Amino acid sequence: MFHLGASVAKIFLVLPHQQIESKLQAAVRLVLPDAEVSAVLVRPCDPKFGDYQSNALMSLAKMRKLNPRQLATDVLAKLDVSEVCEKIEIAGAGFLNFRLKTALLAQTLEAAACGEHLFFGKAAQPRTVVIDFSSPNVAKPMHVGHIRSTGIGDALQRSLRLLGHRVISDNHIGDWGTQFGKLLLGWKQVLDRPALEHDAIAELERLYKIINAECDANPARLEAAKSELVKLQAGDAENVGIWKEMIALSQKQFDAIYGRLGVKFDFALGESFYNPWLGEVVADLLTRGIARESEGAVGVFSDGSLPPKEDPFLVNRDGEWVADPALVRKSDGGFNYMTTDLATIDYRLKTWAPDEIIYVVDDRQAGHFKKLFLTFARWKAADATKTKLVHVGFGKIMDEDGKPFKTRSGDTVKLGELLDEAEERAYKIVSEKSAELPEAERKEIARVIGLGAVKYADLLPNRQSDYIFSWDKMLALQGNTAPYLVYAYARIKSIFRKSEAESASHNPQSAIVLVAPEELTLAKHLLNFGITLEAVAEELRPNYLCNYLFELAGKFTSFYENCPVLKADDAATRASRLVLCDLTARVLKQGLATLGIETVEQM
Ligand code: ARG
Repeated sequence: MFHLGASVAKIFLVLPHQQIESKLQAAVRLVLPDAEVSAVLVRPCDPKFGDYQSNALMSLAKMRKLNPRQLATDVLAKLDVSEVCEKIEIAGAGFLNFRLKTALLAQTLEAAACGEHLFFGKAAQPRTVVIDFSSPNVAKPMHVGHIRSTGIGDALQRSLRLLGHRVISDNHIGDWGTQFGKLLLGWKQVLDRPALEHDAIAELERLYKIINAECDANPARLEAAKSELVKLQAGDAENVGIWKEMIALSQKQFDAIYGRLGVKFDFALGESFYNPWLGEVVADLLTRGIARESEGAVGVFSDGSLPPKEDPFLVNRDGEWVADPALVRKSDGGFNYMTTDLATIDYRLKTWAPDEIIYVVDDRQAGHFKKLFLTFARWKAADATKTKLVHVGFGKIMDEDGKPFKTRSGDTVKLGELLDEAEERAYKIVSEKSAELPEAERKEIARVIGLGAVKYADLLPNRQSDYIFSWDKMLALQGNTAPYLVYAYARIKSIFRKSEAESASHNPQSAIVLVAPEELTLAKHLLNFGITLEAVAEELRPNYLCNYLFELAGKFTSFYENCPVLKADDAATRASRLVLCDLTARVLKQGLATLGIETVEQM
């Protein structure tokens, strides 16, 4: 299970664990008036011990050198949650274990069934969060690796928004840099117009490769490319026009992919947006003594405040620590990726005053972000304390032999082609399974399942681990996969279709009766949807939600196998069980939607 930090914004009370938590905090305050109670949390636990647990009293006791069991006893004497739970147990070194009253559990589900909530509440203290994700580079195709930043970033923006946080998503497109010198030269000399119209990015890639090879072999070509770049930087009308066209053509292809993936951004300002400020950034860093000149370039060096091992401005070469500065100006006067990122933070802070900026970027850039965050803190110390900067890193995608995932010819896998293949493979599976459905319907199911499978397989592992790309695994109808979850959803929907056909439609206002152990287990798991969403939003880990949904589907299956729904013994049980089915379907649908995955009503 996950652990939430103390900084979690309070959510309006809708759920039993929140009621327990707030009363427990009040009781702690009565016993220890000066205690910081925001870390006194109540979380789901191993059902062996109860439904919820709090271990916070132990650390409070430790800090104050109190006997933890005694503190627990004193707090319990001030705590009345008898409406919500059974008798509270003090366990082990001072854990508090809570077991919900079945009546309260039923009431909570009834409120959800009537649409009062879906087991989560809006944050009472919404945070403003900028999410920087996807961020492909102009003139280069989006490749399989981009699914990671795009999918994780989108799941995070959806989770935060669902909980009522203010999210500003910004696609930091790579639309500036030295590559444009070569691209401009190529455009002017070897451009194939029809090819450009057919597949712009492929043509731009071709131009780049040709000129790049020429530049490697011939210094005169390199000079020519550089002079195109200088003209662009100086605002030459022709070069600026071509550059803008390259951006527009690339953006069109990016947008086609975002459209397929259902990913939306509030902004796509891009690196070039910050050009006007780069000179000032460097000048200011120099004036304040944060950056200095070295061999004609300007860089930020270690300030010696960290042990060498943790200092990103140092690198170990042959057993010796040597400087590895963050470069902000090249010796030719050009600016660096770092300079743009510094100007970007400054702009975002001034424009949106966020509580947090989240960068969903490959772990290979971890060093860059460490340098960036430390440099910013040195540059604008006061601002840096107001905004938390977080690098949400992720690992690589590997093939089944454990090598980086590539095409058979060794090229990077283009994202568009990968998504096509996902839909094609899903179509075969759907056609085998549901041959009776009309083709258009099978195509639509295949689209949902195929794209869902790719996204889900990417969100499921702990994001920092590398994972193995396996079509068979991600498209399997059994196991922790999108097809399995979408199928679980569609199966519940089929119960309702059958129930309608038997003209006994479902009444959301039915009383909930929880008797069978499987009913209780399912009901309790439904209640934890909100806690899971909060954990995703707090730790920026969508995999918590994947696992929650997988468990939900499993708990639903054992419920459905053991507790007849349409053939229940009496009308009240049947009505109650239909509500459980409906709530499960709604949580599955909302949960998948939060991961950016669509559902189908029938499969
Ligand atoms: N375009 C960059 C790349 O492809 C990623 C940008 C990430 N965002 C940022 N603010 N540095 O590597």
